[in-house]
Amino acid sequence: MDKTPKDAPDGKDAKSRLIVALDVPDRATALEKVDLLSGRVGCFKLGLEIFSAEGPRLVEEIRDRGEDIFLDLKLHDIPNTVAGAVRSACKLGVKMLTVHASGGAAMLRAAVDAAQEAAAQPLILAVTALTSLSEDDVARLGVGQGVEQWVETLASIAHGAGVRGLVASSKELPALRRRFDDGMELVIPGIRPAGAATQDQSRTATPGAAILAGADFIVVGRPILNADDPGAAADAIVAEVRQAL
Ligand code: C5P
Repeated sequence: MDKTPKDAPDGKDAKSRLIVALDVPDRATALEKVDLLSGRVGCFKLGLEIFSAEGPRLVEEIRDRGEDIFLDLKLHDIPNTVAGAVRSACKLGVKMLTVHASGGAAMLRAAVDAAQEAAAQPLILAVTALTSLSEDDVARLGVGQGVEQWVETLASIAHGAGVRGLVASSKELPALRRRFDDGMELVIPGIRPAGAATQDQSRTATPGAAILAGADFIVVGRPILNADDPGAAADAIVAEVRQAL
């Protein structure tokens, strides 16, 4: 997850900021996409769909091809169980791993501590409010706060528990960037190139807008995976990120 100087004058590498969500059903499709996108994106995110189908062996297989892996399991359980899952995930050599911030301070601390004990330490990312949730959804959940305020509450709890990376939407990004310095990595899904369908996402932004608002990393799935030419779609997003930097 190196963000050191490569291809931009201000020291930020555009390509390394693009995380591709490998939301596909099976190994063959996943490896086909990895082959198409290798060297053109920063990292591959393996989430619940592919992990449930293929398990840890596929994580290792993609890692052994030299790719950085973001394991997006969005862990949310009692502290002891989450700590165990983090220890298991650390053995896979992943670079990033998600937990739900709403699991609370003790669970988040357990995740951070388990990661710190591992030989290869992934960045623990706390997922704040899912980017698919609208203001109405959050009101119906009985949170008692608007989305932006809720994200800030969850972010504060995560920060207090030692978490150094957050997943949020572009809408909350400016406030989070103001609040936290560069020691907090801000990872933003819900990214849609201009004119693209939002699908089930609610709180979306273009790649350039998210970077301009302070995103460290953007996560893009379907706009790349479902494109006629996924490589070209990824290249176009990296170009937009580079321009925004
Ligand atoms: O296809 P799309 O670009 O919408 O994919 C977004 C990815 O980011 C999905 O893999 C989803 O699980 C993940 N994600 C999200 N919102 C969050 C956290 C993760 O969309 N808050």
